[in-house]
Amino acid sequence: MVDVPVVGLDIGTTKVCTVVGRFNENNIFEILGMGKCKNSGVRNGVVVNIESTVDSILKAIEEAELESGVSIFNVTAGIAGAHIKGMNSRGVVAVTGKNKVISELDVERVLEAAKAVVIPMDREILHVEAQDYIVDGQNNIKQAIGMIGTRFEAEVHIVTGSATAKQNLTHCINRASYKIDDLILNSFASAEAVLHDDERELGVLMLDFGSSTVDAVLFVNKVPYYSNVFSYGGDLVTSDIACLLKTPNDVAEHLKISSGCCYPSLCGEDEDIIVPKLGGRPSISLPRDKFAEIIEARMKEIFLLIKKDLEARDLVKMVGGGIVLTGGVAKSEGIAELANQVFQISSRVGIPHGIIGLKPEYMGPEFSTAIGLTLHAARGLENRANQVKYKKTKPTKNGNLVSGLFAWLKEFIE
Ligand SMILES: Nc1ncnc2c1ncn2[C@@H]1O[C@H](COP(=O)(O)OP(=O)(O)OP(=O)(O)O)[C@@H](O)[C@H]1O
Ligand SMILES: [Mg+2]
Repeated sequence: MVDVPVVGLDIGTTKVCTVVGRFNENNIFEILGMGKCKNSGVRNGVVVNIESTVDSILKAIEEAELESGVSIFNVTAGIAGAHIKGMNSRGVVAVTGKNKVISELDVERVLEAAKAVVIPMDREILHVEAQDYIVDGQNNIKQAIGMIGTRFEAEVHIVTGSATAKQNLTHCINRASYKIDDLILNSFASAEAVLHDDERELGVLMLDFGSSTVDAVLFVNKVPYYSNVFSYGGDLVTSDIACLLKTPNDVAEHLKISSGCCYPSLCGEDEDIIVPKLGGRPSISLPRDKFAEIIEARMKEIFLLIKKDLEARDLVKMVGGGIVLTGGVAKSEGIAELANQVFQISSRVGIPHGIIGLKPEYMGPEFSTAIGLTLHAARGLENRANQVKYKKTKPTKNGNLVSGLFAWLKEFIE
């Protein structure tokens, strides 16, 4: 068990959030400190103003340092934005070892082959996640190393993103004087914090609904089969309210948060809200269910767009474990009911679970990405430590890339 603190950094459109956490001596993930700061340097999940983003990063990290008592030098950061694209690919190689035993090297080669898809010059691969290994036509192999075969295939999910967007994000973090340990797709991070293993196994669609983007990811058999980022979010709902009710944007945002609902039938008949008007005009009273209809219309439109995208890829049938909604917008009353109705799939709101030390003000779905990034970093550290321990106690012929290469060379020479 590794109890070294790690740091997650979510650079979102409304806020930058830093989380310091570690697995404690009882192997429970413990939050040591968090910090957040408003952000105006990001649009649609992408950095558009370096100075203000750097400023928000510095403030959010400083707050987390003070609260945790940990000096921060390295972070695991999230990446998002509509430039992100997910796709599935397949790679094939011949098993090279004399005895046709699949080694770690063969796994690396088959993943490289699967990665060899045509990607425009201005894009970069962010993730390659193995879904399934196939040995001589036999599929459903999760652990291929050690198996014997001739034809070795891998099915993978590849996530690519704009090289420029990645560079600007990296530049901001480096300008703030922090080193990036890892850059993770936001939706993968949120999923780490809010999904349960049984959902991931059965097939679950997670939607992280932020202020300007919806980060979508579908896991089946615990691995990603689909990922996409839609440039729609809670800010659109706010501008609809402002526009239709002729009220200032900040009042619309306040009304949405304090009295909003996206499933009108949940509103009582005698519930009314007071809407202040533009330019000092007299306020009006509006039945809450009518107010909810404005929110419902936009939310429904966004859900339908996502559903259409899934239908176009014939993926709806794979969502056996339901839909999990997270991100700030998941706090909207009635959001699970609306998702149920649109997708005809059981839906729930997901907040980070299985952790301790979280202050009440951070116990919301808007912190899923930041907490998930930290959890991801801590689990990565734990896995690497276990691998080292395993290799120390149980040396194997194909235990790592170098020994794998030696084994391969030896077999080749003999
Ligand atoms: N109670 C609430 N009801 C409805 N919407 C809410 C509520 N609380 C927050 N929101 C909305 O959540 C959004 C902010 O969510 P979040 O903090 O997840 O965004 P973000 O991560 O900064 O943005 P993005 O992920 O798009 O870059 C805002 O649009 C805000 O209006
Ligand atoms: Mg977000």
